[in-house]
Amino acid sequence: MDGNGRWATKRFLPRLVGHQQGMSSLRRCIKACSERGVTVLTVFAFSSENWNRPAEEVSGLMDLLMVALSREVPELNKEGVRLHFVGERTGLSDKVLAGLAQAEAATASNTRLVLNVCFNYGGRWDIAQAASRLIAQGKIVTELALGAAMALAHVPDPDLIIRTGGEQRLSNFLLWQAAYAELYFSDKLWPEFDEAALDEALAAYTQRERRFGKTSAQVAAIGDATAK
Ligand code: IPE
Ligand code: MG
Repeated sequence: MDGNGRWATKRFLPRLVGHQQGMSSLRRCIKACSERGVTVLTVFAFSSENWNRPAEEVSGLMDLLMVALSREVPELNKEGVRLHFVGERTGLSDKVLAGLAQAEAATASNTRLVLNVCFNYGGRWDIAQAASRLIAQGKIVTELALGAAMALAHVPDPDLIIRTGGEQRLSNFLLWQAAYAELYFSDKLWPEFDEAALDEALAAYTQRERRFGKTSAQVAAIGDATAK
């Protein structure tokens, strides 16, 4: 969800207003995904590197998270959205930790859409914490075991990764899980990423041929590249 700051700056508004607008955009996106039959949505809300931003912006983002949690959970419940917070817990305040746990518990029985909010998250952090856990348990670090020890093990790997804001990089998002994901880059700033923009991304995705290492002819013959 990139581009909140630029959206605000273009309008001579404080960056935090951009983040507030970004939150509305996320609400719209969750609803649109749910309506379109998407069952897992994973968003990058705060990266391990975002602590390096000015203190005022960091505390503003924490406050925004707390406000959103208290405001949005009833609506998410109505829409059948199950929340998971994915990321390092160390470094987050007790207040934030309690808020995350409460929101996860309050939405735990919902089944329509899993919403993973990556917060204090980094792809490298996830790989390292998964490997450390396996080693601590005396297990061998295989691809299968590592995948199962990752913070996102409760959902399948993503089919499509969308980055808004014009930048064409992953910036430490889902490094392990992105292995076979289709990448889509939108020049729209995140607050401007609306239903039409989402539909464009989904339409682009349907045009891609996913081969998972196979040939085009093989995929055409079996119909599904993930089949044996
Ligand atoms: C939002 O966009 C993503 C967060 C880190 C919360 P940015 O804050 O990175 O916006 P730009 O890139 O400065 O426009
Ligand atoms: Mg940015």
